[in-house]
Amino acid sequence: MSPSTDDDTNSGAIIQRLTALDNWPLRTAELDPVFFEASLTKTFPTAAARLAFRERWLGRFLEHWPELAHVAVGGDGVLLGYIVGAHKDPAADPRFADIGFYRELGHVTPQYPAHLHINLAPEARGRRVGSRLIEAFMADARVARLPGVHLVTGRDSRNRSFYARLGFAPVVELVWEGTPIVMLGRAT
Ligand SMILES: CC(C)(COP(=O)(O)OP(=O)(O)OC[C@H]1O[C@@H](n2cnc3c(N)ncnc32)[C@H](O)[C@@H]1OP(=O)(O)O)[C@@H](O)C(=O)NCCC(=O)NCCS
Repeated sequence: MSPSTDDDTNSGAIIQRLTALDNWPLRTAELDPVFFEASLTKTFPTAAARLAFRERWLGRFLEHWPELAHVAVGGDGVLLGYIVGAHKDPAADPRFADIGFYRELGHVTPQYPAHLHINLAPEARGRRVGSRLIEAFMADARVARLPGVHLVTGRDSRNRSFYARLGFAPVVELVWEGTPIVMLGRAT
């Protein structure tokens, strides 16, 4: 895959493929503050629990599929946000066996096998940077000839309007560990 860039001077951010950055493996550490700030879980009983949480929702994607990750780079070179994900159906991939809700989604994930996680630093939100990260991920899914892309978010999350505007529609709603969640899907 070739490096991609997407410059939008109005938002002050460039969208770039993570692996196109100089020293990209070292720069992944800059994504941790963005991840933990955006996460709903704020406290962890142990350092190991914090690490496992990062591994679950961010680390494994950087490790196994760094080429699918895109980052938003601010004018000063700071990483303002990211999108990470995978192309293989997670309900059929043992590497996601720990994500309990996929046991209830295996009948629909073949239609939307790719999945994503996206987060921006607070100062980067509301300027359509997220939309451009999503479109970069969608473009890769199209090149890979996948039928669709999905994500799972809180049923009542503020980000629902963001995904709706980008064409992600509800596929399945369920309650997972006491929280109402929704799988949203978009055909490529
Ligand atoms: C969701 C997010 C990626 C959208 O990117 P963005 O560049 O801010 O999005 P846009 O400028 O294109 O659209 C703004 C929309 O983003 C969402 N958004 C903005 N700030 C948000 C926040 N603090 N929390 C959740 N969603 C937010 C809203 O849907 C907003 O639409 P609205 O103005 O109609 O409420 C980004 O706001 C973000 O990282 N939010 C916090 C973490 C999050 O929700 N990540 C997704 C987990 S599934």
